[in-house]
Amino acid sequence: MKAWQYDEYGDVNVLKLSSDVPVPTINDDQVLVKVVAAALNPVDFKRRQGYIIATDSPFPIIPGHDLAGIVVKVGSNVKSLKEGDEVYGDVMERALAEPKQFGTLAEYVPVDEKLLALKPKNLDFLQAAAIPLAIETAYEGLERAGFSEGKSILVMNGAGGVGSFAIQLAKHVFGASKVAATSSTGKIELLKSLGADVAIDYTKENFEDLPDKYDVVYDCVGQPEKAVKAVNETGVAVSITGPIPEPGFDFVLTANGSMLTKLGPYLESGKLKVLVDPKSPYPFNKVKEAFTYLETHRATGKIIIYPIP
Ligand SMILES: NC(=O)c1ccc[n+]([C@@H]2O[C@H](COP(=O)([O-])OP(=O)(O)OC[C@H]3O[C@@H](n4cnc5c(N)ncnc54)[C@H](OP(=O)(O)O)[C@@H]3O)[C@@H](O)[C@H]2O)c1
Ligand SMILES: *[C@@H]1O[C@H](CO)[C@@H](O)[C@H](O)[C@H]1NC(C)=O
Ligand SMILES: *[C@@H]1O[C@H](CO)[C@@H](O)[C@H](O)[C@H]1NC(C)=O
Repeated sequence: MKAWQYDEYGDVNVLKLSSDVPVPTINDDQVLVKVVAAALNPVDFKRRQGYIIATDSPFPIIPGHDLAGIVVKVGSNVKSLKEGDEVYGDVMERALAEPKQFGTLAEYVPVDEKLLALKPKNLDFLQAAAIPLAIETAYEGLERAGFSEGKSILVMNGAGGVGSFAIQLAKHVFGASKVAATSSTGKIELLKSLGADVAIDYTKENFEDLPDKYDVVYDCVGQPEKAVKAVNETGVAVSITGPIPEPGFDFVLTANGSMLTKLGPYLESGKLKVLVDPKSPYPFNKVKEAFTYLETHRATGKIIIYPIP
């Protein structure tokens, strides 16, 4: 099969496109998926830069967490999926603790049944690939923060993959009383269209100096010292980029296909919208260009690789 691989840590130039990679085998709990579209995530380049060297799999590594594709082979213990099913998911259950050698920037990938869900019928493969890691992270963070109807939230980086879902989930699924979010000037209208009641332009105002405080502050940027300054007396801050002082906590996503199944109706009804960066899709042979763009930290929503190959 064709696949992007690397066998040393480094910048985008360690990525190599090979056309003679053996199709991976599956175990009894897995299915083999023909990848139709994949999405990039910051963890893909952090891993490539050697950030999780202590737990990483052997080389050569095929990067990529997110996919949408078609089941072509089914393990003997698999109950909920069959050949021909259109599925999507984040294939790395524990991205930092147990990264897998075979990622989604390939024609075929072995995936645990429990990490997949049926693709929402109203979305194409390209849109579906944009969802899993980002929405699962946004949802798990809100749940861990005890977010619920009537609470207020500030989402730092509302225009990114995770933040764009955090805004929408808080507003349209949890029933937030007030959603605020940050971005640069050009993305302020976008934040409002996603459901933000208050959009803060971080190039003009420091959210941490404003009088408004929140029940939950969701830090999708990596500014933990600032994040905790915007929390209520009874509130909490969530960090997905590393340690944060009290009253904050950090976590790493556990990928989970049932979460996608649970959120499926909100995607199919259009209550939750998928934010795909306007420069997407990048064809399979432009993966290096796509990573170079992701690594600028300026993407609006998700960067998609399509078609594959
Ligand atoms: N712990 C976990 O399980 C987990 C899971 C997913 C992601 N993460 C981490 O969370 C972070 C966000 O991931 P992501 O995929 O959502 O990122 P992303 O989509 O790549 O974020 C890009 C966005 O960041 C915005 N941005 C950059 N600096 C900002 C600032 N100072 N304030 C507000 N917005 C800013 C940019 O908007 P502007 O152009 O307007 O600045 C851009 O739209 C990454 O570090 C990622 O590794 C962790
Ligand atoms: C937390 O802050 C929000 C938004 O400013 C406010 O509506 C809410 O009443 C505050 N809650 C507490 C317990 O202070
Ligand atoms: C997966 O998500 C479902 C639905 O949110 C939840 O009930 C279940 O506990 C989760 N499983 C794991 C292993 O986190």
